[in-house]
Amino acid sequence: MPDDAVTMDKIVSLCKRRGIIFPASEIYGGIANTYDYGHYGVLLKRNVVDAWWQAMIGDRDDIVALDSAIIQHPRTWEASGHLAGFTDPLVDCRTCGQRFRADHLDAEHDVRCPRKPSVLPGQGPDCNLTEAREFNLMFETTIGPVQEAGSTVYLRPETAQGIFLDFKTVLGFARRKPPFGIAQVGKSFRNEITPGNFIFRTLEFEQMEMEYFVPPDDAHRWYLHWLEARMDWYERLGIRGDHLRLRAHEQDELSHYSSATSDVEYLYPIGWQELEGIANRGNFDLTQHAQYSGEKLEYFDQQSGERYVPHVIEPAAGVGRATLALLCDAYDEDELGGEARTVLKLHPRMAPVKVAVLPLVRKDGQPELAHEVRNLLRRRMQTEYDEGGSIGRRYRRQDEIGTPWCVTIDHQSLEDRTVTVRDRDTLTQDRVAIDELPDVLAGKLEAAWISPKVAA
Ligand code: GAP
Repeated sequence: MPDDAVTMDKIVSLCKRRGIIFPASEIYGGIANTYDYGHYGVLLKRNVVDAWWQAMIGDRDDIVALDSAIIQHPRTWEASGHLAGFTDPLVDCRTCGQRFRADHLDAEHDVRCPRKPSVLPGQGPDCNLTEAREFNLMFETTIGPVQEAGSTVYLRPETAQGIFLDFKTVLGFARRKPPFGIAQVGKSFRNEITPGNFIFRTLEFEQMEMEYFVPPDDAHRWYLHWLEARMDWYERLGIRGDHLRLRAHEQDELSHYSSATSDVEYLYPIGWQELEGIANRGNFDLTQHAQYSGEKLEYFDQQSGERYVPHVIEPAAGVGRATLALLCDAYDEDELGGEARTVLKLHPRMAPVKVAVLPLVRKDGQPELAHEVRNLLRRRMQTEYDEGGSIGRRYRRQDEIGTPWCVTIDHQSLEDRTVTVRDRDTLTQDRVAIDELPDVLAGKLEAAWISPKVAA
């Protein structure tokens, strides 16, 4: 179990208090396992996605981007195996009407009887559970106004299948040959029955998936490559190395398509949990879609005359889980001037706001100069202006959303055009000339960073 101050309840309450992430449909009492991202949540999530695109297509030449449809031809899910096999075993309680996962009715999963929370479902005096039934996790809907045969479609449960369907088209225009990858970020949907845990498991969620197509004989080598590359990526986001691990799946855990899978796991407040799965999918998907569609999905090497169905290595990550890992890893509490402080010690490049510009007082020309400074910085980095409340309270507000630097305009600023730069982690305040400020802050943003919680 984690050893620092963070608990899931504290993360939930900070996220709600600062409008980072909060329950959806709240005015109607909320809806199960569904959350909305507010201003700072959107900025944080966008930084995660941008960092992923940078690693996939900014830093490499062998991967191209795709944005495929959420609703695909229903045969897609027959071919992929989702229609037949993407199920959870569920039981219903005839007394309270709640539904539970049959494989989560043990103390480890901590699911409670809603009528008698001191016991597990099925153990209360009034519990009356049905037999377990297999329940498909795909959301079904219909195309067209009439619910007629043949019009049933599904919201995608993973973005990956859209990539396989477009393999041939992309191969045609991308002028790439294996090894090459197709990357996609987008929403996926699963009708999950879950015990809460905030945004860890939600009904709709964003995935960052990349299918890397390789010659069959090279698959294992590339699988190992992606294990290492993806672990490195999380460390580059500033997540502490001792809170990350790779866990290889046992043979009986493997999905139907996989010959090897490892999870990148993070030590969340609820224990070690999956952040990302990296799978060797072999040629399962291309072969299945070729069979169901009648299209040849293979690669022909004109130089060697060789024809083959590429094998696929898939790093599949969740935006929400990465965002949650960042929040948990950064959360800290300390004491400042005799007052408790909550602070997100995020990697500056991940922080929703990089710099807050704060006039010490709301008079004497300080707000005007602060606006000038804000305008100087806003094109270089996400900047916020705040003049409401005491300077201490404003610092505290920025600490809570993880802003690494606060620039304060005071009476001296009007005399010599210098400002103070307060550092969120060291709490030092340095005087910097306004003209030099954009470069000074941009330099800090580019600098190497390790979590101050590592040294603590
Ligand atoms: N294409 C392979 C695939 O979808 P997965 O392990 O089921 O594999 C990949 O999902 C990642 O998507 C997970 O590691 C997790 O980060 C995220 N994810 C999956 N289901 C989720 C859910 N219900 N809520 C939030 N994130 C989820």
